[in-house]
Amino acid sequence: MNTKLQKPGMLFFSPCFLLPIFLLLISSMAFSLNPRKIENFGKNWKFNLGDIPNGQESGLNDSQWRSLDLPHDWSIEGTFSKDYPASPGGGALPGGIGWYRKTFNLPNSEKGRLAFIEFDGVYRNSEVWINGHYLGKRPYGYSSFQYELTSFLKYGKENNILAVKVDNSQQPNSRWYSGSGIYRNVWMVTTEKIAVDHWGTYVTTSDVSKQSSKVLLQINVRSAALKDQPIILRSVIVDKSGKEIAIAETKSVATKESLTAVTQYLTIANPLFWSIENPYLYKVVTTIVCDSIICDNNETSFGIRSFVFDKDKGFFLNGKYVKINGVCDHHDLGCFGTAINYRALERQLEILKGMGVNGIRTSHNPPAPELLDLCDKMGFIVMDEAFDMWKRKKTDFDYALDWDQWHKRDLEDMVLRDRNHPCIFIWSIGNEILEQWDSTGIPMTRELTGIVKNLDTTRPVTSNLNDPKPQNYLVQAGVLDLIGFSYHQQDFINFPVNFPKQKFIGSETVSALMTRGCYDMPSDSIRRWPDRWDKSFNKGNTDNTCSSYDNCSAPWGSTHEETWKIIKKSNFLSGQYIWTGFDYLGEPTPYSWPSRSSYFGIVDLAGFPKDVYYMYQSEWTNKPVLHLFPHWNWKDGQTIDVLAYSNCEEVELFLNGISLGTKKKNADDLHLAWRLAYSPGTLKAIGRTGGKEILTQEIKTAGVPAKFILEADKSTIAANGRDLSFVTVKVLDAQGTLVPHADNLIQFNVSGEGIIVGVDNGLQTSDESFKADKRKAFNGLCLAVIQSTEKAGRIILRATSEGMKEVTTIINSK
Ligand code: GAL
Repeated sequence: MNTKLQKPGMLFFSPCFLLPIFLLLISSMAFSLNPRKIENFGKNWKFNLGDIPNGQESGLNDSQWRSLDLPHDWSIEGTFSKDYPASPGGGALPGGIGWYRKTFNLPNSEKGRLAFIEFDGVYRNSEVWINGHYLGKRPYGYSSFQYELTSFLKYGKENNILAVKVDNSQQPNSRWYSGSGIYRNVWMVTTEKIAVDHWGTYVTTSDVSKQSSKVLLQINVRSAALKDQPIILRSVIVDKSGKEIAIAETKSVATKESLTAVTQYLTIANPLFWSIENPYLYKVVTTIVCDSIICDNNETSFGIRSFVFDKDKGFFLNGKYVKINGVCDHHDLGCFGTAINYRALERQLEILKGMGVNGIRTSHNPPAPELLDLCDKMGFIVMDEAFDMWKRKKTDFDYALDWDQWHKRDLEDMVLRDRNHPCIFIWSIGNEILEQWDSTGIPMTRELTGIVKNLDTTRPVTSNLNDPKPQNYLVQAGVLDLIGFSYHQQDFINFPVNFPKQKFIGSETVSALMTRGCYDMPSDSIRRWPDRWDKSFNKGNTDNTCSSYDNCSAPWGSTHEETWKIIKKSNFLSGQYIWTGFDYLGEPTPYSWPSRSSYFGIVDLAGFPKDVYYMYQSEWTNKPVLHLFPHWNWKDGQTIDVLAYSNCEEVELFLNGISLGTKKKNADDLHLAWRLAYSPGTLKAIGRTGGKEILTQEIKTAGVPAKFILEADKSTIAANGRDLSFVTVKVLDAQGTLVPHADNLIQFNVSGEGIIVGVDNGLQTSDESFKADKRKAFNGLCLAVIQSTEKAGRIILRATSEGMKEVTTIINSK
């Protein structure tokens, strides 16, 4: 077993034979077995909103500043107003300047070791100081970066002061809501003088088959030692159960005060593949031994999979045809704003997975690392995207201002950080880049693609083109591996003619518009909303809602059904990333104020699915689906379109027990529809396949709001100060039917070991704060998000509303 390609200076062993000896060796070593320490550095920061002269100075008294834990987005705490320079397009929330400071001590035992501070992302223009020493600036709000602190640190009782200035005052600088502040995690990493470098492990696999897979490790060892040091670099591959299945050991010399590259080749027999259904992960544990002492160990997770984009046949994963059924998403998490929370993101992905989504595009910037970790674990095909603009700006103060100085570094950092993630299948160098219309696009595309390929050749490079023609300057550069279509679904079918040698990806599609629970009839008349910049536009719904019949879209896009009908039919159309999975803050096309968030999501901002969610679920999953809509509260005699999304062969509809006929699904049908005169009562659908009843659904006319219920998505959460329970409030009539237009104000009160961290109802025009203890229902629903403290115990959520009985729910925090 374990046949390796030998390299000079490398020793190879059978893992079964050597592992016991290796473990024995490690346990007999005197030195710390965990020489690399990684600590989340988010606790106990001080924050000041507004500029402070010399806010970095160690002597500054920050005792009056607000205390908080990171991640933190100060914009989401603001009050909505159309007058902020970010405008409703940017989420109608404030930007500004903020200072963060953290005072900390390091034990004397850390003396002589190296210390680094790592930021996963700060929006934007962050500048960092340690004990008054300037460490640097990073303009791009989506890049991850680190600084070395070692030579400026104090030990023992002496305080260290880390200060961060965040400047998001020049607005507008984004076409959507960006958030402001240290909105991602911060880490303190300490190592010995010889250690694997930051992003210093690169794992690739090749010759992947059921029998074996080669694994290539390219490891950069960084030495701050003053003399060359002989080292042994051991890498052990561990499977999911913790079993060690392959080892490579290399003797090398860590050159003093520089980087030493070490390459290791391993082979895994009978590998388990990473796939959408079973995203199997391995990890490689790399240990550096210096003079018989372990001086570093470092873990990297990876997956083994093979894939190909074929110009005629589409996308294959591990030899199997897969249609990429993806969505684009921005990075905000509803009431969290952009402050990353693992569980909030995991919930978003769970909701999408439940609909059958298998792909995520990180539009239009490098995501939080947690997104990629989750996509690795949950099985999503990710398009990792770098930029929304290059040198030509889209808003007054956007990243174009920093392009010349920073684009190379930022793009390199994205690839270096992300390239070990098995979930990433496509690199995107940009979204709807303006240089596609001028000849500078040619050298720029070549340069950017070159930057990516220099660091990773295992994935294709694309760019999302809103003018996807062979004459497009980005296409003319001749280096894009995939032609990324932004809309233009009418041209999909001619792709093989227009691009005879190229491969297709629908990198951005649809842009349909919906407000959950709102319906404009007739359902089969499609409204293409005029461009929001068209000043003559005044024909919208007076309440700024969009219809949820999938009969409403941006003029450059399509309805959901229009695009899916095309993509579904042709294998060479490898798939699509729909704009968007979730509603997001900002870009409230087609409306302006008071709308402040988008209408594009298949799921609203609170995480409540809109009806079309079930169209995809019926097409993209194998579970039986029957979803009947709209609600059943209309004017007597009004003509109503009743629709069903279902994967049953036929659906029969009844009104108050009387059959309105059975409709069979033809190959092209994505929904079934009945047009009828409204009379109150019960609408019932029965879905049958092969004559057998598979599912039934009833919708009843609701009376007035009489009570409400609380439904927590988790009744037990972890007592770690981060875990969440999302509690949905449903406003019901006396009989227990959801009241479709209920907008009752719900007041929450939390006691015990939890706090309320946000509320929402998914309404794009709401000016209520997300950071409150009350929320009006919208179309019968609202949401309260409860977070654990670090102490185990009961969390008691009490909810009240005028004229209704108080309701309590208990969440256990363990
Ligand atoms: C696209 C753009 C997205 C978003 C979308 C709205 O052209 O790439 O960022 O603006 O339109 O339909």
